[in-house]
Amino acid sequence: MSWTIHDIGDLHGRVALVTGANTGIGRATAEALAAHGTTVVLACRDLAKAERTAAAIRMSGAARQHRDKTKPDPVWRGRDARTTLNEREDLASATRRGRDARASLSHGQYLATTTRRGRDARTRLNEGEATTMGEVVPLHIDLASLRSVRAAAERFRDRFDRLDLLINNAGVMVPPYTITEDGFELQIGVNHLGHFALTGLLLDRLIETEGSRVVTVSSVGHRRGVIDFADLHSRRRYEPLTAYNQSKLANLLFAFALDRRLRGTTTRSLAAHPGAARTELMRHSPWHFRFVVSRRTRWLFSWLIQDEDRAALPTLRAATDPGATDYFGPSGWREFTGTRAVPARPHPKSRDLEVQERLWAESERLTGVTFDAKRGAPR
Ligand SMILES: NC(=O)c1ccc[n+]([C@@H]2O[C@H](COP(=O)([O-])OP(=O)(O)OC[C@H]3O[C@@H](n4cnc5c(N)ncnc54)[C@H](OP(=O)(O)O)[C@@H]3O)[C@@H](O)[C@H]2O)c1
Repeated sequence: MSWTIHDIGDLHGRVALVTGANTGIGRATAEALAAHGTTVVLACRDLAKAERTAAAIRMSGAARQHRDKTKPDPVWRGRDARTTLNEREDLASATRRGRDARASLSHGQYLATTTRRGRDARTRLNEGEATTMGEVVPLHIDLASLRSVRAAAERFRDRFDRLDLLINNAGVMVPPYTITEDGFELQIGVNHLGHFALTGLLLDRLIETEGSRVVTVSSVGHRRGVIDFADLHSRRRYEPLTAYNQSKLANLLFAFALDRRLRGTTTRSLAAHPGAARTELMRHSPWHFRFVVSRRTRWLFSWLIQDEDRAALPTLRAATDPGATDYFGPSGWREFTGTRAVPARPHPKSRDLEVQERLWAESERLTGVTFDAKRGAPR
């Protein structure tokens, strides 16, 4: 079944927690969910950055709703759409928690330019039209610290009595060799073990929430991943990309193993990957990688790398499509880019039950978090 971002229905009343939401794909995901009415918790390690992102999302989310309502044709139908927003005079005021949010765009500051059926269509919005978006709430979490993950889960539980969407998105790629305060190599620690612990600590909230979902963000790199149980933390030899690929395979093994454990509840665990996206993930990569993902070389590499809004589509589909299968990625060449989010091909090793269970047991041992999926209502 084909799915577009316009199939995301009204999400008012839902609560989502997105890790690593201050930038990149996490931010784009949070913004889209908030624009559809979800209360979105931005779980980030730099609270000041998260506060700034929350303020920006409140503004741009309202503006985006405005644009989507008036855009004549969606970008995802394989046509090119370009939108420019003059933010200088963009005024948005919102009252949240079920109250009205109003985006007031005056004097034609807002100009959406869309190429449609070979023609240019231009829409100019004048005085504002009422629109609603969800609350955006920053929350501190450092996924490299189990202490911080526990504290974040506690703070979330104190404030929210439901969790509809847990988006395990935050990630770090090819950093210099680092051991976390818990003794984990940074990539397996943040990308997998931190999310494993967070999910376990919030599982009862998820199970109590009818139809909730966990979406874990993996990568095409999982195909080259191997779980090295003898040296999970690369103590003998650290090869940064090998450790990254291991962590991304761990994401998929976890997502599928969790879904199996959740049978008998209304909660599901799914996975997604963004293809190749122009984000800050490559900050530790060699210069030629950074050259390829740079916004300045966008015109040269758009066939290979996509912007974060498009890269967030697979996550959004996994989170919101009622008929979702268990793994989504971009529709294009080698799943690198794509105008649509479609079922993706996980490597068969991610379905290996023995490896899934071994990793699960090791993750419980290392984090001290055990899962009790038996408490939910029947699915
Ligand atoms: N970009 C791609 O081409 C690509 C391809 C395949 C998969 N992915 C996956 O997509 C996900 C999002 O990555 P992205 O491309 O959007 O990269 P990004 O722009 O670098 O965003 C990563 C986010 O994770 C956060 N983060 C890193 N370490 C953290 C920690 N210890 N605790 C809490 N948050 C932490 C970062 O926070 P700070 O800003 O504070 O550092 C940032 O918000 C990752 O799981 C990545 O593996 C990306």
